Amino acid sequence: MNTILLNKISDVRQNIIEWKRQGLTIGLVPTMGALHKGHASLIKKAKETCDKVIVSVFVNPIQFGPNEDFDKYPRTIESDMQLCNEIGADAVFAPTPKEMYGDNIRLSNTDLTFVCPPYNLVDCLCGKARPGHFDGVATVVLKLFNITTPDYAFFGLKDAQQLFILKRMVKDLNLNLTIVPCPIVREEDGLALSSRNTYLSQEERENALSISKALNQIKSLYEKGITDVNVLFDTAISILNPNIEMEYLEFRDFDTFEKVDNIKQNTLIAIAAKSGKTRLIDNIII
Ligand code: PAJ
Repeated sequence: MNTILLNKISDVRQNIIEWKRQGLTIGLVPTMGALHKGHASLIKKAKETCDKVIVSVFVNPIQFGPNEDFDKYPRTIESDMQLCNEIGADAVFAPTPKEMYGDNIRLSNTDLTFVCPPYNLVDCLCGKARPGHFDGVATVVLKLFNITTPDYAFFGLKDAQQLFILKRMVKDLNLNLTIVPCPIVREEDGLALSSRNTYLSQEERENALSISKALNQIKSLYEKGITDVNVLFDTAISILNPNIEMEYLEFRDFDTFEKVDNIKQNTLIAIAAKSGKTRLIDNIII
């Protein structure tokens, strides 16, 4: 099978019209490319669930802050196409920023209609350090939904806050699709796969392993009956490598996104930390 590469919104729409005419279901896997086994697991799940699968590959400028890595973010469309082909995705949609945002000079809400998710969900965890990030994510994802009109859209639990916010957008805006959450894919030594792992030196990567170790330790203490988040927080901190700069470690109910004092079923334990200059995120859900 040959995955087709589409750069134009109009070409995507033409394919979708034909697929819908044939009564086929459509799955969308939104990505920023530099695809790895984590992305691959989403594409495989989409293949199992839907008749036709579109993977979008777009490094979305409006979700990067001014001092973030938009310019240096890895762009590897050839190997991305190869992977999509191997898994059997039907199409890759890889638009230019101009195709997505036209001639808007400033990609800000003075020039562009934005989706602003609830403040309570964006003013915490990753949103705290990355103001405007989730507005940019919600906006591009709604655009991708409108362009591809999927029945199902696949997102990784690696970005648990993003997933929570997008599920909320689907509910609040009555979008006619189902979001399918997919588990985190890790390296054998526990490091959560991320396109940004390519920035890590060997030493930084070694130090970063303490992030998933700290999360696992919380889980095993919980299984021994310790639920107090203060105790669990301190334990996790003691496991983190001293060269890892922690941004947050939080315990939240994954139904309401409220902070919890004691861990129970469906608690999200989320961490963001820097190894060297690279910001990494990871989590577990109890
Ligand atoms: P990106 O970071 O490329 O991730 C695309 C999807 O892959 C997201 O749903 C993310 O959670 C999932 N993913 C990444 N690493 C994973 C891993 N190790 N295991 C399982 N899933 C993983 O997230 C984005 O792009 C963007 O914000 C996007 C939603 C595309 C909007 O621009």
